[in-house]
Amino acid sequence: MFSRWLISSLAQKMWHYIHQRLLISLTVICLLLVGLGNALHTYANPEGQVPDMLATLPGQLKFVHVIYRHGDRTPVDPYPTDPWNNRKYWPTGWGQLTNLGKQEHYELGKWLRNRYSSILNTRYSNENIFVQSTDVDRTLMSAQSNLAGLFEPVGDDVWNPEINWQPIPVHTIPEKDDAILAAKAPCPAYDYELDKLESSPEFKELTKHYQDLFAYLGEKSGRPVKTFTDAQYLNNTLFIENLYNLTLPGWTDKVFGHEELTYAANFAFSIGTYTRKLARLKAGPLLKDIFQRFDDKASGRLDPDRSMWVYSAHDTTVANVLNALKLFELHSPPYVACIMLELRVDNSNTPLVSVFYKNTTAEPQPLDIPGCGVSCPLKKLVKIYKDVLPMDWERECKRSTMMMTYEEANLGAATGILILIILILMCASYALMIYYRRRNYKIYTPYSQMA
Ligand SMILES: *[C@@H]1O[C@H](CO)[C@@H](O)[C@H](O)[C@H]1NC(C)=O
Ligand SMILES: *[C@@H]1O[C@H](CO)[C@@H](O)[C@H](O)[C@H]1NC(C)=O
Ligand SMILES: *[C@@H]1O[C@H](CO)[C@@H](O)[C@H](O)[C@H]1NC(C)=O
Repeated sequence: MFSRWLISSLAQKMWHYIHQRLLISLTVICLLLVGLGNALHTYANPEGQVPDMLATLPGQLKFVHVIYRHGDRTPVDPYPTDPWNNRKYWPTGWGQLTNLGKQEHYELGKWLRNRYSSILNTRYSNENIFVQSTDVDRTLMSAQSNLAGLFEPVGDDVWNPEINWQPIPVHTIPEKDDAILAAKAPCPAYDYELDKLESSPEFKELTKHYQDLFAYLGEKSGRPVKTFTDAQYLNNTLFIENLYNLTLPGWTDKVFGHEELTYAANFAFSIGTYTRKLARLKAGPLLKDIFQRFDDKASGRLDPDRSMWVYSAHDTTVANVLNALKLFELHSPPYVACIMLELRVDNSNTPLVSVFYKNTTAEPQPLDIPGCGVSCPLKKLVKIYKDVLPMDWERECKRSTMMMTYEEANLGAATGILILIILILMCASYALMIYYRRRNYKIYTPYSQMA
């Protein structure tokens, strides 16, 4: 009896011991597997790593959209008390591309030639590339300088041995008609949406923090500074004069180059696309065109079957596109800042899109598209950015009462109308009820009289 008890108790203890050990080892094995899995996942997951070379992205390069800012320019609009507010210091005129700006774009053109030699013919052909600019002197001139670097004439294209340059068309339309690149075609719904944002309590609160700065800038510059954009313009004039080694007036020491003004100037770049709706109406048409062209190219429908599409535009264009793609890190896009949207097709014929941003002379890195990584299937890309792709831009830009009752606080009006309808219905049914009662009464009376 005793020995059996002993044995069973021993067995129990041993079982208990083994059980515990087993649990511990199982836990350890599980942890190891999870760790290993994680490590492997990070290794294999393209979202987790940033390849630094073109070649490391999967698929073959087929098409690129290039969106760049113009090069170095003179101030657009100097402030009233500006000591350098005189055309004699800026002989080429206000807001014009300078020789430095031409050189910068010529260099960028050469850089693009080198990067895209696999899809760009050595000789210019309108069936290979299309160039579109906003209708502004400095962007038109930037595009031309850029093309001088991109397509130096060779072979039969040399038309004058003394000029190492050939004419290449740059397309444009008036800004007021341009809903796509200049994005200045009228859009009342956009203006309304922007007003709504700027008069919102949150935005007013934000502006309040800069009130003292704005008041100081307004007083010293001789022109009211009320908004972030006003501050940005002033900062920009100071920035250019400083770049040209023109001594700035003493009052600027307190603000220029300091965090507060720099932040206000940078922040202004995010306002035009601050909400998804603003982004949709401002940058949406351009993104929609780009994605559509990618789709056409990938499915062999692009005609002519081009490989490069260039947009010559502004710092605001660069900021708006990046912000609509949720890739904008608050900053002032510098001269010749350049976005490249590249299309690759892999072995299984899947179109893949990568976005690069070159804002310095350093080699650009592919940006991490939210929820998709550095190489994003076109289908998924379109889904991710569906909220900023307008279905019918012109219709969405209209501001009708119907839109408002659907959209915003005019729910009040809708409720009013509803209550009115209910009241009318109630009155009508009440009137009907009385009418029938009377009729019944009338019908009833003769009977009672008969009785
Ligand atoms: C504002 O000035 C800072 C330098 O102080 C500069 O880095 C930034 O690019 C400027 N922004 C604009 C819009 O000019
Ligand atoms: C301004 O001064 C710096 C330093 O002396 C010089 O490198 C730069 O070329 C000057 N810029 C211009 C536009 O003259
Ligand atoms: C350049 O772009 C990167 C990536 O968007 C950003 O982090 C950085 O602030 C930009 N730098 C300048 C000088 O604009």
